[in-house]
Amino acid sequence: MNFWRNLEKPIIGLSPMDGVSDASFRFVTAKYGRPDVITTEFISVDGIAYGATNIFNDFIYHEIERPIVAQLFGIEPEYFYQGAQIVCELGFDGVDINMGCPAKTVARRGAGAGLIQNPTLAKEIIRATKRGVQDWFNDGLSKSINKKTLRELSAVKEKLDILGTKFDLEKRIIPVSVKTRIGYDRESVESWIPELLEESPANITVHGRTLKQMYQGEADWLALTKVGQIIAKHNENLDDEMTISYIANGDINSADVAIEKLQQSKADGLYIGRATYGNPWIFENIRQKLKSDEYIPVEKTLDERIKVALEHCDMHFRLNEPQGFVQMRKHLAWYLKGFPGAVKLRVDLMKSNSPDEVRQILSQHQISY
Ligand SMILES: Cc1cc2nc3c(=O)[nH]c(=O)nc-3n(C[C@H](O)[C@H](O)[C@H](O)COP(=O)(O)O)c2cc1C
Repeated sequence: MNFWRNLEKPIIGLSPMDGVSDASFRFVTAKYGRPDVITTEFISVDGIAYGATNIFNDFIYHEIERPIVAQLFGIEPEYFYQGAQIVCELGFDGVDINMGCPAKTVARRGAGAGLIQNPTLAKEIIRATKRGVQDWFNDGLSKSINKKTLRELSAVKEKLDILGTKFDLEKRIIPVSVKTRIGYDRESVESWIPELLEESPANITVHGRTLKQMYQGEADWLALTKVGQIIAKHNENLDDEMTISYIANGDINSADVAIEKLQQSKADGLYIGRATYGNPWIFENIRQKLKSDEYIPVEKTLDERIKVALEHCDMHFRLNEPQGFVQMRKHLAWYLKGFPGAVKLRVDLMKSNSPDEVRQILSQHQISY
């Protein structure tokens, strides 16, 4: 089942962000922002193939995140084949291939945005991922998956069960999508995007920067508009069920900018990344603004932000062992951003190690919760 096709357009989704959009962040974003689609942080297919414990924790998700897509990265088609099968087995709604990560540790190996320079391998990876999904649907998990990976898979299933996530769904063929950039060291959408279209991924998401730009400068919305035209042309003569949807991405930080960029690019939707830091409400604001031009986006009060921050803390503490709380501190700072009176509170919260400590610090600052 291709959920991309059934989503109401425009699609406003949560962009994957390694080190940020973990299960607790996605839970809070789903609950208070209700994005139309959510993607996990990228997950290494090598780690999956070798059964690395820390990797498998990235597969934790909550039922309210649906439709939820697991994003994979790597370079070895056989590992994508196996990774796709694990994603199916865990009840995700889609599997996405990362062809956009610019980090040296990833791209220098030829993975992530490195694949933009190797379209032959990129296409082989899409085919292997689709084959993994199809073979899992026909025959179940492949015998090539090693025992350690199967043990980790069972452990994740137990955790999903505790969370009440319904991973054990009726078998279905989930869509394979790609997220990429506009080029490697220069914009090259006219050659790169048609290569991807040859393999008919269900959806293509494009971040409007090259690998070389990393996250510098502004996203190139002219290039993203060109991508929209290339994909629209490709779809022109196709039956509905063969068309490919397109999500544009880069620097969307308000409802007004979202509307402007949707109109400009003619994309089927947008992915929002950094503007969601401490701000799950951005999705609701964009949705309301799409419904009515008159709508003025709502700014949340400090009290409202603290309530959500605490819920985020509790979920984070529950899902990660206590030693993982350091990861939560940056989120606390983001929730309190823009409140000049909260500078000292922010500094104190940067030392917190648990939700209890966060509550104590709030009390010390005479903040009720
Ligand atoms: C901290 C961080 C981690 C990211 N991790 C991923 C990732 O795992 N997979 C991916 O496809 N993109 C990743 N990205 C890129 C974002 O998904 C998005 O394409 C980019 O930030 C531009 O969108 P924005 O301007 O709305 O943030 C990451 C970006 C940031 C800032």
